[in-house]
Amino acid sequence: MKMHKKRIAVLTGGGDCPGLNAVIRAVAKKAILEFGWDVIGIEDGYEGLIFDRHRRLDYRDVSGILTLGGTILGTSNRADPYKYPSAQKKGIFKDVSDAVMRNIRKLKIDCLVTIGGDGTLTIANRLAKDGVPVVGIPKTIDNDIIGTDITFGFDSAVRIATEGIDRLHTTAQSHHRVMIMEVMGRRAGWIALYSGVAGGGDIILIPEIPYDLNAVAGKVKARNKKGKRFSIVVIAEGAMPKGGSVTVKKIVKDPSDPVRLGGVSFMLGDSLERLTGIETRAVVIGHLQRGGSPTHFDRILGTQLGAKAVDMIDEGQFGYMVGVKKDDFIKVPLATVAKGVKSVPADHMLIKTARELGTSFGD
Ligand code: F6P
Repeated sequence: MKMHKKRIAVLTGGGDCPGLNAVIRAVAKKAILEFGWDVIGIEDGYEGLIFDRHRRLDYRDVSGILTLGGTILGTSNRADPYKYPSAQKKGIFKDVSDAVMRNIRKLKIDCLVTIGGDGTLTIANRLAKDGVPVVGIPKTIDNDIIGTDITFGFDSAVRIATEGIDRLHTTAQSHHRVMIMEVMGRRAGWIALYSGVAGGGDIILIPEIPYDLNAVAGKVKARNKKGKRFSIVVIAEGAMPKGGSVTVKKIVKDPSDPVRLGGVSFMLGDSLERLTGIETRAVVIGHLQRGGSPTHFDRILGTQLGAKAVDMIDEGQFGYMVGVKKDDFIKVPLATVAKGVKSVPADHMLIKTARELGTSFGD
């Protein structure tokens, strides 16, 4: 009897991040080498499923991409098949999931591997509910996906942000200035917390702990009094003052999260300079955090997540995301992932340790 040769499809959705190609490579290599399956690469996230843009991925296509940043498949954060922006009317969305179902049937896909953040995985959950066999893999520099201790991309972003803080230190010291560095992370403070601690930031401001402007200024002045004539502030783009709200940079055409944050560091800088009398500069490192080659940690994590996803397909375990708990890989229902985002708990061990070492969280 002839065995059915499986055919799987892979897509990358939402914002890119270092490590995506490591995952694509792991999924495709294991599927081809271990199981002899066919692998299809869907182009530009769900956009490619809606408009039937895909290409076959052979071994050679995924060889030599482990260290490459970005995604060889392209990505999109506008293409929610259940809420697709109308080309004719601005602000109007339509359900084009029928086209996705049609294309999946046409391609004879046995499983769709979706590599993405909470937006992409929430859509994957809806597709799963509509009968598509899906396996999700958690991606984001923000590390804010429910059900997994860590996402690939985070370590690379933290490394870049930490290097930024190191560089700001020397110029802050020379000019006796307050230097503020704004990092990404959306509504979660993981990147700010980890890079802030790794870079020895004096003040770390995260969305989960609204800051008191006077407390931040007080910390800067206290350092000055002790002869530390400079201070480093690391602030998450989603941080906000007590009783205040987030700083919105712009509204974009992303149906799952149209709000783009940014600019809080400039507002804080102006206020701090006024309150302390110390010259203050702010920098936003932005998309630098998403670019370039992944760290060894993200290459390894991406490789393991990709390989694990293939095992799940082989076992017919659909409707799940591969998650990491302690040192183990687990399967997390996509319905759980779709529930929201993972914030930094106020009693997080690293916050406690940083406080013990004199770091201020502005509260
Ligand atoms: O989710 C990843 C992320 O880089 C966030 O940290 C940031 O707020 C957002 O995406 C930026 O999105 P865009 O690339 O659309 O500007």
